[in-house]
Amino acid sequence: MRKPLTGNLSNFVKLRKLRKNDLKMLRFWRNANRKFFFNKDVVSPKMQINWYYDRYLKNPNDTIYIVLYKNVPVGTLAMIKHDNGELEIGRVMLGEKKYARKGIMGKALELLLKLYEENNTDMKRFFLEVIRTNKSAIEFYEKHGFKQIEEKADEIVMTKDI
Ligand SMILES: CC(C)(COP(=O)(O)OP(=O)(O)OC[C@H]1O[C@@H](n2cnc3c(N)ncnc32)[C@H](O)[C@@H]1OP(=O)(O)O)[C@@H](O)C(=O)NCCC(=O)NCCS
Repeated sequence: MRKPLTGNLSNFVKLRKLRKNDLKMLRFWRNANRKFFFNKDVVSPKMQINWYYDRYLKNPNDTIYIVLYKNVPVGTLAMIKHDNGELEIGRVMLGEKKYARKGIMGKALELLLKLYEENNTDMKRFFLEVIRTNKSAIEFYEKHGFKQIEEKADEIVMTKDI
C-alpha cells in the first residue's frame, strides 16, 4: 500500500457535474484508460462532440461527475438511472495517475453512493460491470461493499443494496 495522504480526505474530495469545458480532458483520460472499458475505440474530438450533444445531453438519466481533489480535476465517475429501479455506476476512472491509491477515488465513490442513496429512496440497488481481468478495479469495488453476483464471458457483474 502506498503512503496515504495526510489530513482528512473528506475535506478535499468533491464531485461536480461534467461541463462542456471538461470534454478535452475527459477524452484524454478516456483514451488513456480505454483498455479498462468495454468500448475500446479511440474517441476523436468529432465523435465526442456528437456523443455529448446527441446522446449525453439528451439522456437525463446519465450523469457524469468530475472528481476534484483540492479543487483539481483528477478523475470521473458516472451514475445511470435505470427504469427497473437500479442505479448503474460507470466511467470510474482516475485520470491523473499521480494520485493513484491515495483513497481519493474511493472517497469519491462513497460520496456518489451517498448522494444517490439520499435522493433516490425508491431505487433498489447499485450495480456495475467490470472486465473480469481488471483485478484492481474488482478489489476497489469490493472494498466499497460491492459483491460479485454474476460472471459472464468477459465481465463480472457486481451489486450493492441500497
Ligand atoms: C479503479 C481506480 C479508479 C482506483 O483508483 P485508486 O486511485 O486506486 O483508488 P483508491 O486509492 O481509492 O483505492 C485503492 C484501492 O483500490 C484497489 N487497487 C487499486 N489499484 C490497484 C492495483 N494496482 N492492484 C491492486 N489493487 C488495486 C486496492 O483495493 C486499493 O487499496 P490499497 O491501495 O489499500 O491496496 C483506478 O485504478 C483506475 O482508474 N483504473 C483504470 C480505470 C478502471 O479500471 N476503471 C474501472 C472500470 S469498471
